[in-house]
Amino acid sequence: MTMRSFLSLTGALSLFCVTAVYAAGQAKPAAAAAASPESITNGAALYKRQCVMCHGATGQGDGPAAKNLKGFTARSDQMVVFDVKMGQ
Ligand code: HEC
Repeated sequence: MTMRSFLSLTGALSLFCVTAVYAAGQAKPAAAAAASPESITNGAALYKRQCVMCHGATGQGDGPAAKNLKGFTARSDQMVVFDVKMGQ
C-alpha cells in the first residue's frame, strides 16, 4: 500500500467514524413501550436484582447499601418522573 492510499484510507475511515458518531448522537430516543402485566413483572424482578440494595423495597432510599450514600433520600414519584424525562 502506498503512503497516499494509506492516507486516503485513514481519512475515509475517520470521516466514517465522525459521521457514525454524529448520526448516533442525532438518533431520537425510542418511544416508551406501553406497560403490560409482563413488563411490570419483569421490571419488578429487575428492580429486586439491581436496584433494591440502594433504593429499598418500596423506593424510600433505605436499602442496605444506601447507608453509605450521603444525601440519598426518597423523592416523590413526580420528581422521579421529571428526573427520568429530563435525563438527569
Ligand atoms: C449503588 C446504589 C444504587 C443502585 C444499585 C441504584 N441506584 Fe438509582 N440512584 C442512586 C443514587 C445515589 C441516586 C441519586 C439520588 C439523589 O440524588 O438524591 C439515584 C437516583 C435514581 C433515580 C432518580 C430519582 C431520584 O430519586 O433521584 C432513579 C429513577 C433511579 N436511581 C433508578 C434506579 C434504578 C431503576 C436502579 C436499578 C436498575 C437503580 N437506580 C440502582 C443509587 C443507586
